[in-house]
Amino acid sequence: MPLHPSLEEGLGALFMVFLCALCVFGVQKERKGEEMELQEAIMGRRSIRKYTDQKVSDAQIEAMLKAGYWAPRVNERWRFIVVRDAETRKILSRRDSPKGKVATQPHVANAPVDIVVCIDFRGASERDRALYAMQEASGAIENMLLTAHEQGLGACWNCSFDDEKVKEVLGLPEEVTPIAIISLGYPAEAGKGIRRKTLEQIIHWERFKD
Ligand SMILES: Cc1cc2nc3c(=O)[nH]c(=O)nc-3n(C[C@H](O)[C@H](O)[C@H](O)COP(=O)(O)O)c2cc1C
Repeated sequence: MPLHPSLEEGLGALFMVFLCALCVFGVQKERKGEEMELQEAIMGRRSIRKYTDQKVSDAQIEAMLKAGYWAPRVNERWRFIVVRDAETRKILSRRDSPKGKVATQPHVANAPVDIVVCIDFRGASERDRALYAMQEASGAIENMLLTAHEQGLGACWNCSFDDEKVKEVLGLPEEVTPIAIISLGYPAEAGKGIRRKTLEQIIHWERFKD
């Protein structure tokens, strides 16, 4: 028996409400799952300084670069340079060392891939130079480290390098400055981390208190 048109409309509307509720419930469930994974990645990431010879694929590197790209941004002065060449990696591994002594960070040379994060300061305002550029790049670095970890890779954030040598070997213009090298590969160690201050030592509510 055909339904009365108004009853048919009512049932249709009820069905739509039911569908919407299902969608919202589904999305919320999914979001909850994502948040848990994110916390695991944040807490579980450790600096890794020993790597196997296993090749890191372009797709894995691209996933990291994309994660860096999606960090909060102001002027996007960050530049990411992917280095696989062994000779270049050797130069990247040279530390900034006082009094001209040559010291190295072997893990930077031994990593199959290094991603050099630079800032292009050309045309930057004073505030951009002092705050924005470094902070947006730092956010990008953390996104890349977490994405490396998510993909089962090991990485380390390195800032002790020879600025001039890095600039020279990468052909950086005068105002493009290297600020970090992410050494990257499949982990050959668990990564220990170091003791940190407690949360209580660094958190202040409302006003700073010594
Ligand atoms: C700005 C910055 C610079 C760093 N430079 C170096 C470095 O040159 N060499 C290195 O081995 N680790 C470097 N690290 C990694 C820290 O040593 C490491 O994050 C810290 O020991 C905590 O360990 P975890 O990352 O395993 O939690 C640097 C980290 C940061 C944030």
